[in-house]
Amino acid sequence: MYLLLCLCYAYHNILICNIDHIYFRFDGRGGGNSGNIRLPPLNSWPDNGNLDKAMRFILWPLKRKYGQSISWADLIILSGNVAIESMMGIFPNEPLWYGGGRIDAFQPEEDVYWGHEHEWLKDDRHKSPVDGGTGLDKPLGAVQMGLIYVNPEGPGGNPDVIQSAKDIRTTFSRMGVTDDETVALIAGGHTFGKAHGAADPSKYVGKEPEGASIEQMGLGWKNSFNTGNGKDTITSGLEGAWTKHPTRWDNGYFELLFKYEWKKTTSPAGAIQWIPVDMDEEDVVPDAHEKGTTHQPIMFTTDLALRYDPVYGAISKQFHQNFDLFTDAFKRAWYKLCHRDLGPVSRHLGSYLPNESLIWQDPIPNAEYDLISGDDIQYLKRQILDAVNQSKVSISDLVKAAWGSASTYRSTDHRGGANGGRIRLEPQRSWAVNDPNSVENVISMMEELQSSFNQTQQQKGNTRQVSFADLIVLGGNTAIEEAARRAGHSDVNVPFVPGRGDALQSDTDVTSFNALQPTYDGFRNFEGESDMRATPEESLIDRSHLLTLTVPEMVVLVGGLRVLNANTNSSLGEGILTDRPGVLTNDFFTNLLDENTVWSPAGNLFQGTRSAGGQPWKASRVDLIMASNAQLRAVSESYASADSSPYFINDFINAWTKVMCLDRFDLLRPDSSKRRESSKL
Ligand code: HEM
Repeated sequence: MYLLLCLCYAYHNILICNIDHIYFRFDGRGGGNSGNIRLPPLNSWPDNGNLDKAMRFILWPLKRKYGQSISWADLIILSGNVAIESMMGIFPNEPLWYGGGRIDAFQPEEDVYWGHEHEWLKDDRHKSPVDGGTGLDKPLGAVQMGLIYVNPEGPGGNPDVIQSAKDIRTTFSRMGVTDDETVALIAGGHTFGKAHGAADPSKYVGKEPEGASIEQMGLGWKNSFNTGNGKDTITSGLEGAWTKHPTRWDNGYFELLFKYEWKKTTSPAGAIQWIPVDMDEEDVVPDAHEKGTTHQPIMFTTDLALRYDPVYGAISKQFHQNFDLFTDAFKRAWYKLCHRDLGPVSRHLGSYLPNESLIWQDPIPNAEYDLISGDDIQYLKRQILDAVNQSKVSISDLVKAAWGSASTYRSTDHRGGANGGRIRLEPQRSWAVNDPNSVENVISMMEELQSSFNQTQQQKGNTRQVSFADLIVLGGNTAIEEAARRAGHSDVNVPFVPGRGDALQSDTDVTSFNALQPTYDGFRNFEGESDMRATPEESLIDRSHLLTLTVPEMVVLVGGLRVLNANTNSSLGEGILTDRPGVLTNDFFTNLLDENTVWSPAGNLFQGTRSAGGQPWKASRVDLIMASNAQLRAVSESYASADSSPYFINDFINAWTKVMCLDRFDLLRPDSSKRRESSKL
């Protein structure tokens, strides 16, 4: 029994570890997708205290046994589920929803902005007047460096319950979690387990794993208080359990939360927490280790926020009165928390997947028709070219629509991309970055083409259909082939594989999808309004990272998109360093690297005076960085030399095709085969 209890508590720790790596809805980074908790900085985050032991002593033996059959990332999430199932009494007959398919990282995630503080638990991130006045810098989620979410004792250690609720709302909404889900998760999580604060951490707890001495073999937080474990464990410094049955799923959390008034006290480690006023004897909590010993239940300041914040309070009351509703809300929110960075359900493996469509997964209905073939593709391309020749749409419009559709993809959580054809749906259709006038033009032309093609097929008794999503990509490809032909390369073929489906407006959560809206897009020289701290060129790198582009791919795409006149606002001419827009030349690079052009600042932009005369060039920081930064210049030079034109076209088409297919999980890509290999459950 004792061992079982220890296991349970260890598993409780693992529960937290699933969400340790806070997921950001703004860029999709974070989450349990890569098992990053094994690596710095997450392995040493104060809020992940003692999870090193849970992973070493509970999970490593399992990982060693099952090796490549399950990734660490999958194992961690699965163990959280098993812990909950066992405490709910439903293991193994009623498994919670679970999808595998996570791939382990073997080096810390790069390009993650955790905050600019250099010390654990420091807070220098509350400067901007955003999100209800909490002022937390975007895109950060945690209120202090090293916290998963918020300070349990209250903002900055001040036990202000109402202010604490504000912090919780900011942090959880940045994780893409609603108020209902927030209450379900915190209350549900704290229905289990206990906090550990047997004594003052500053006196007894050693360095975190990254700072600990070599012979500790990667373990940290060595505890010299008495036995150093069991009843002497020190993790957060708060101490105690929230319910009378900390290893059982019940409504005890809300029962106690609402039954008592709570008075401030301190844990043995000196942390601020709350205990009931005039507690009834029946509400004592059994000690986790010593039979016969009991304690008062506790609440954190953050727990009280679930009662005293008016919105959280109403939700908590509802859950208190309706246990089934609470259970269902917790299960769903838990699944979302642990799976939202795994991307669309087509990426999920195993037999425990939900049997219903969940809107936050951006569902795309299955195609119930045959895909278009080679002849159909040629026919559709001719129709698109006719539209260009009749000036119904321009090359620039077609390229912009395809890019706007596909480049929403984020490798961090596998959301976005051309699949689904959501560029014709709200909110994407109206995003400023997509130049609504231009995109409307393409949408109406493509909808017409789709409907006439599909109707003709039906009339002929054929089962082939074309999706709008495929047409948008085909339109971009056709425009590029035509632009290359105009540059004298008549044999250019941009690879195209049909198979994208069309989502409906009812499949699209407008609020959640809006998180994908680019506030900057250097590929289209678009600079929107944003309260994030980043320069345009930093934002370009960030977007390139989300698109998994290499440096040469990023450079060639910028240069190619410029000559194709694919800026959001084409009429401004920023970076269109060519006298033949719409023709796929390497002019951007040759003109940018012309040493006789003199560049000078002009407002937010730059002006380039050409030695040969003519209209001065206009360019953005993103354009100039292609020649001023040594690494980017090296690539730009390779596209500016006299013999580079065919390489430029070839490289541009390869990079373009990569972006168009980033969300084609159905096509065999090296990483998808690896994923399947590594997660045979
Ligand atoms: C406002 C948000 C939250 C805060 C501030 C918070 C804070 C904490 C702290 C300080 C502990 C004590 C750690 C220790 O000393 O061992 C703890 C324990 C725990 N938390 Fe949370 N938590 C939050 C939300 C959640 C959520 C969303 C879940 C899961 C859905 C969760 C699940 C747990 C569990 C299971 C434990 C017990 C761990 C054990 O028994 O070792 N918490 N939490």
